[in-house]
Amino acid sequence: MAPASKLPSHVSVYEVSPRDGLQNESAQVATHAKVRLVEALVDAGISRIEVGSFVAAKWVPQMVDADEVCKMIERRPGVTYAGLCPNARGLHRALAANVDEVAVFVSASETHNSKNVNKTIRQTLKAFEPVIGPAVEAGLKVRGYVSTMWGCPYEGDVDPKRGLELAEHLIDAGCYQVSLGDTIGVGTPIQTEKILDLFTSALPLAQIALHLHDTRGTALANVLVGLQAGITTFDASVAGLGGCPYAPGAAGNLATEDLVYTLEGMGIATGIDLEKLWQAGQVAEAIVGRELPGKVHRAGVRSLAK
Ligand code: HMG
Ligand code: MG
Repeated sequence: MAPASKLPSHVSVYEVSPRDGLQNESAQVATHAKVRLVEALVDAGISRIEVGSFVAAKWVPQMVDADEVCKMIERRPGVTYAGLCPNARGLHRALAANVDEVAVFVSASETHNSKNVNKTIRQTLKAFEPVIGPAVEAGLKVRGYVSTMWGCPYEGDVDPKRGLELAEHLIDAGCYQVSLGDTIGVGTPIQTEKILDLFTSALPLAQIALHLHDTRGTALANVLVGLQAGITTFDASVAGLGGCPYAPGAAGNLATEDLVYTLEGMGIATGIDLEKLWQAGQVAEAIVGRELPGKVHRAGVRSLAK
């Protein structure tokens, strides 16, 4: 392991539970409950948060009220509120909802891409032309996702070089950062090291983020590899809420509490209050009405006998 002095001193946590988390819930969550979750997370110190998706409701019904959620949230200065956006119609909605940031998304594998957005990868990039440039011109930040980087639920292994071409395309088009998705949570540490060797030799560190689903319990191990490679943005979902409706078997993202507990325990600052974050996890569990899997969420922040 790299000496502590070589690890970043600060990490930015990009919270995705109101979007990546809730999008997978089959029972419709009330709009006010989504707003409550966002506000509880921001209360805990989350400063970058994806609050919903401006996608087609018939594709992801749970996100139908993203516009309303954005309008109802009491905005806090210094917090970036983001929305997922697949096309020009999505940008139109994002602008009306007054988000600070939009996120475009494409998969490194054709089959997942087509199941997710009904387009080839090439058509998807074309659909981003009226999104990325105009969004930047309108003063929004634009983030990109490259999904299925560690493996595709339909095609299996994915060539990371294909993912790098897509990431470079998104950066050239105007994205400030690309988040690499282990969409179905199959990644292991040496694989992560190889992917990051490739990416860090081509892109500045600040342009790379990791979006790790924890389906097989390897997300934190992959975070450690990311830290050693100098990555300083990690996506996470409170209490481990979530999955992808078009990636069978995808579980929630790495739980935000597990990420923050580990980072803060390593002396890496996140700006997040873990106790309050744990409370936000209780809100998440209450609004979906089922037990959530995050480890710290279940065990508590500290439960050692005194
Ligand atoms: P389509 O059916 O091919 O497109 O869907 P279309 O242009 O024919 O539109 C179909 C209908 O949707 C039309 O309505 C459009 O107006 C409407 P109709 O005429 O039938 O009444 N429509 C929209 N409505 C609202 N907002 C919009 C919008 N666009 C069209 N923006 C489309 C293509 C891309 C729209 C669709 O496939 C879609 O919305 N897909 C989203 C899928 C999704 O959200 N997946 C989960 C997020 S990705 C993910 O989770 C991975 C990630 O977390 C990273 C990782 O884990 O790796 C990001
Ligand atoms: Mg995801």
